[in-house]
Amino acid sequence: MTRAGAEFESEGGERRRRPGRDLCGIGGLPVDAVCDLLGRARALEDAPHRPEVLRGRTVVCFFGEPSTRTRTSFELAARRLGADVIFFGNDGTTSAAKGESALDAARNLDAMGIDVFVARDRQTGWPQVLCHHLGARVVNAGDGVGEHPTQALADALTILEAFGRSPADGARALAGLRVAICGDIIHGRVAHSNLHLLPRLGAEVVVAGPEGLVDGAELPEGVTLAPSFDDAVVGAHVVMMLRIQRERLARGRDLPDDAAYHARWGLDARRVGLADPHAIVMHPGPMNRGVEIADAVADGPRSRILRQVTHGVAVRMAVLARACDRQGALPEAKR
Ligand code: NCD
Repeated sequence: MTRAGAEFESEGGERRRRPGRDLCGIGGLPVDAVCDLLGRARALEDAPHRPEVLRGRTVVCFFGEPSTRTRTSFELAARRLGADVIFFGNDGTTSAAKGESALDAARNLDAMGIDVFVARDRQTGWPQVLCHHLGARVVNAGDGVGEHPTQALADALTILEAFGRSPADGARALAGLRVAICGDIIHGRVAHSNLHLLPRLGAEVVVAGPEGLVDGAELPEGVTLAPSFDDAVVGAHVVMMLRIQRERLARGRDLPDDAAYHARWGLDARRVGLADPHAIVMHPGPMNRGVEIADAVADGPRSRILRQVTHGVAVRMAVLARACDRQGALPEAKR
């Protein structure tokens, strides 16, 4: 059967994919590719408007889950590179309301000549499904309890900046830094991408979280489970807090109320005092203030939470350029 959009199929009917590269998970990026993306993102922050890079290309943000930062930063990133951007969301205005599957919708958009699908969905492994079916390139913007690779890249850039490190140092770029990632590790796709990325850049990574929300047996090699939250934070250079992903918890699962959770697992001023004197505090957002993080910490002098957001735009520009095989049109990587 010939699909509409046959320009992406060879004469034999075999599907041809558009030039460029997918980004489904952080493991698909070798360290030198990570460092090149981070260096180029850094250079883009000095001059963020590059409308020649993706002029004539079309990016669709195909979002089946809510989003504030990720969606907006991808859209901004695409526009700053000159691409046309379309948002396609689960908002009741599409033919999903008539029973069309998300995959059929994606294949139809693909047939219109989309270059990149930026995809977020509650289904883990959804980007890989799209890669299999689409001619467009696919960038993962968060899949279920899977990964969120561009958030991890933004986080790495934030740590590099805070400690005066260079992405040019590759596997040693974060050497000597201890990163504590705390909260709902099991359901946290940001954690999953960071647990795979930060050790490859040389960081020592330790996790802590409530019973049932962290599994010591499932951690990547080199990542350790701390016996308590305080133990994780002691001496840490980076304390990264995560929200409990209530929407992904089994119904009826018992969790302490917000005040009890905060007392046991919330980052407050006392706990920040256990960290390295130069420690920074991070959170990918959305924050639940007074639950996993105290107001005074979220808004305090150690917080780099809004820097993460700023870096997210630059990183997504570099990723979109790579997705379209236009990385070479970006400014040279900055040390
Ligand atoms: C996260 C996500 O959606 O995975 N947020 C983000 O994209 N910056 C984290 C979360 O929802 O807790």
